[in-house]
Amino acid sequence: MEETIEFLRAKTKNFTPEIGLILGSGLGEFADEHCDIAIPYSDIPNFIKSTVKGHKGRLVFAEINGKRVVMMQGRNHYYEGHTMQEITYPVKVMKKLGVKTLILTNAAGAVNETYKPSDLMLITDHINNMGTNPLLGANDETLGERFPDMSEIYKKKLITLAETCAEKLGIKLQHGVYLANSGPSYETPAEIRMARIIGADAVGMSTVPEAIVANYCKMDVLGISCISNAASGVSESSLSHEEVIEVTNQSKSKFKELISSIIQAL
Ligand code: HPA
Repeated sequence: MEETIEFLRAKTKNFTPEIGLILGSGLGEFADEHCDIAIPYSDIPNFIKSTVKGHKGRLVFAEINGKRVVMMQGRNHYYEGHTMQEITYPVKVMKKLGVKTLILTNAAGAVNETYKPSDLMLITDHINNMGTNPLLGANDETLGERFPDMSEIYKKKLITLAETCAEKLGIKLQHGVYLANSGPSYETPAEIRMARIIGADAVGMSTVPEAIVANYCKMDVLGISCISNAASGVSESSLSHEEVIEVTNQSKSKFKELISSIIQAL
């Protein structure tokens, strides 16, 4: 960790970000438009490279609307074969760099049948269905406690702030529970029925590990899902990554407007 932090501080001339932003599938463009310094993950000591199409794989530092922001343009996923500890390492790095508020974004399938592709959903809570936990193993007491409380990961004050920003922009928001599966296979219709029964509104393959670690190290978390498709069995059509990227592309202009406004209001 010390090696990573030292490297980043030197590369960024001690840029001290207050906000962290992790950009999901198809949403990386925001970082192209706000880029003061960009560092490929492959250059950063102890970082892992992103292997998924549609994910660029670099850490971007920028001042946006008067706020200092560090962005992950592309994230690492559990389904790539990395460990939970590896995929959440950047969140701990952000914490050490000074980040207080972390905005997590993703593309997700709609379990809730009232949602439409290209809707934006504020994550109110999550269900960890990945079968593992990023905090397994020895605990680093300097970051957080052994048995961290998870009763309000997605802070109500941030949800209210995001609602106010969306209202000003005329953007309609859904609110719901995000369920994470490990992937990489999409769900079966039966798994989606189960997800609905246990209280999920949207389903995806990311975000939850990062949210757990961020909350553990006392960062405030805001989560936004771009609904890219009706989940398995909800509509007749089969699912593809191309469709996910295409639909997120359609919602990316309102997504970018919203993120920019939230950063300003924070
Ligand atoms: N399931 C899982 N992950 C996803 C989906 C989905 O339907 N859409 C986008 N990411």
